[in-house]
Amino acid sequence: MERLPFIAGNWKMNKTVGEALDLIRELKTVISGVKEVEVAVAPPFTALDAVRKELEGSSIRLAAQNLYWEEKGAFTGEISPPMLKEVGCHYVIIGHSERRQFFGESDETVNRRINAALAQGLKVIFCIGEILKEREERKTFSLIERQMEGGLKGLSGKEMRDMVIAYEPVWAIGTGKTATPEQAEEVHRFIRGKLERLYSKAVSEEIRIQYGGSVTPDSIKGLMNQPNIDGALVGGASLRAESFSKIVRFKEM
Ligand code: PGA
Repeated sequence: MERLPFIAGNWKMNKTVGEALDLIRELKTVISGVKEVEVAVAPPFTALDAVRKELEGSSIRLAAQNLYWEEKGAFTGEISPPMLKEVGCHYVIIGHSERRQFFGESDETVNRRINAALAQGLKVIFCIGEILKEREERKTFSLIERQMEGGLKGLSGKEMRDMVIAYEPVWAIGTGKTATPEQAEEVHRFIRGKLERLYSKAVSEEIRIQYGGSVTPDSIKGLMNQPNIDGALVGGASLRAESFSKIVRFKEM
């Protein structure tokens, strides 16, 4: 089955509003005319509104990096699904390993976030992946399985159609150590098999699975050549229009 490739840039805690505008203006120019690849950017919350305005008329989608599951109330410092919807977000990244590692997120809180996002009509980029120790101890598959069962708990096959899964081995994030295409493909194949067991063959074939972890213009082509790799979640290399546009234009390489 043909799945539309999906390249998303996770800007993390980078770019002031001014810097975000500079980047998005340049990006719009350098990736104009790219067809048959879906592109999204996830600026920090403070820059979402400005970037949305700049993206009017462009096919680049806006994504947020996280949300909280309640609609409103006394939750100092948090951002709700309706707030993201209003500001024009199409996607939200949930369960990123940095959230899990540094901000105490668990499979359960990830699941609550996913439910809240979908209920509000946001599409979700759901991140999973093992740390180095788990890989070395050959626990990658059992960990992935646990993260998927926990994060996707209670979601219907229909709701899954609004999900994208990002496999991001934590040892590859920001380290310059990309997983080899074969290493990534092995886990992507496992994830798709698990989706089939949890839902159905149709759902498993429809869902896009991105790879994330030190993706660069040099590594993207090999990754995208794998049958179960449908895109990339890009951190560091998404902060410059030059490198991100090369990744988006992987088909031209
Ligand atoms: P990286 O980040 O490309 O800088 O490794 C990827 C991510 O964390 O989504």
